[in-house]
Amino acid sequence: MTAAPLRFGILGTAKIARSFVAGVKLARSAAVVAVASRDAARAQDFAAELGIDAAYGSYEQLLRDPGVDAVYIPLPNSLHADWAIRAAQAGKHILCEKPIAASAVEARSMFEAARRAGVLLVEGFPFRAQPQTLRLQEMIAAGAIGTVRMIQASFGFTLAQEENIRWSTPLAGGAVMDIGVYPICLVRMIAGVRPTRVTASAQWAGTDDGVDRAVAATLQFADGLSAQIACSFDACLHRQALIVGSAGVLQTTYLNHTTATLPGSLQWRRGSDARAVDSIIETPVANGFQAEVDAFVAAVRHDPAQWSGATAEESIDNMLTIEALLRSARAGGTPQAVDGGAPP
Ligand SMILES: NC(=O)c1ccc[n+]([C@@H]2O[C@H](COP(=O)([O-])OP(=O)(O)OC[C@H]3O[C@@H](n4cnc5c(N)ncnc54)[C@H](OP(=O)(O)O)[C@@H]3O)[C@@H](O)[C@H]2O)c1
Repeated sequence: MTAAPLRFGILGTAKIARSFVAGVKLARSAAVVAVASRDAARAQDFAAELGIDAAYGSYEQLLRDPGVDAVYIPLPNSLHADWAIRAAQAGKHILCEKPIAASAVEARSMFEAARRAGVLLVEGFPFRAQPQTLRLQEMIAAGAIGTVRMIQASFGFTLAQEENIRWSTPLAGGAVMDIGVYPICLVRMIAGVRPTRVTASAQWAGTDDGVDRAVAATLQFADGLSAQIACSFDACLHRQALIVGSAGVLQTTYLNHTTATLPGSLQWRRGSDARAVDSIIETPVANGFQAEVDAFVAAVRHDPAQWSGATAEESIDNMLTIEALLRSARAGGTPQAVDGGAPP
């Protein structure tokens, strides 16, 4: 017998929530049954347009709906912690948009609340559920490029709108929070541990208390692995990663794609010298939200250990890394320890 779909409610009528609904419609494992907005009319319009049964004029009302099993949180980053904790206390599983929170302290409280309530809380990164990333992980684990020594990863796009949550310091915007978190997550996934020391330089939006608009950084690991990451709101759209090992190179053309229409591909160079052989590995097309939601439902229904995305430890490390990068950038590029201690 097929299990009934897991019933999702959405907090807020965010732009990205439309892509989420489209992805869930492709997934048989889940359905979006409710949406809430600070404005009841906005919730009703969103629900009518996207075929969602229930519309609420407050997030609290949605959390009281017994017909909702899980919530998707695409709120501004500064609100993730508060609403994830309230959702956990209401007994809902939580798929929270990246970055998980506005700080590592908040992230720890969120996972503690979820543990106490016995619900699943994860940070959403659709690329972590997509075939090109799963294949990348398998290949690295199987030794396809030997020991990983260097990673370069970046993500940028042009943020032309003047009014956007990403420009807001109180809403925890900024380039590192918004898109730097992708290469940070990819590097942490491959390294398997948190970096020990980082340095960063940034360009800032407006005055001194403006958010970062572009950041270039280095991340160093205890075992000698080093990574360079970059992110920018002033670049053409690109998402790229180059992973260099002792015996080969892997390159992935994108780190995230929620409405994929092209198959993901990996370029693989086998060999450590000029005789290296190049090949392209095609991976299937998969909508990122569909893949993410299917993985989320499997983790809720069967085994949280099946979750292929960021673990709680990884999400907390991602926040510690973001904080250390911003500390370094604000201190003119001075090295920072990721755990907040003296730099090693
Ligand atoms: N996974 C991905 O590919 C992806 C892509 C884009 C964004 N994201 C993440 O998704 C989240 C939302 O991004 P977005 O660009 O979709 O945001 P957005 O369009 O600006 O939507 C944010 C929503 O939050 C609600 N909200 C509550 N308090 C607010 C406040 N003080 N100011 C503004 N909005 C407020 C609003 O809904 P109501 O007014 O209806 O309550 C609003 O529609 C962020 O965490 C971002 O990092 C992820």
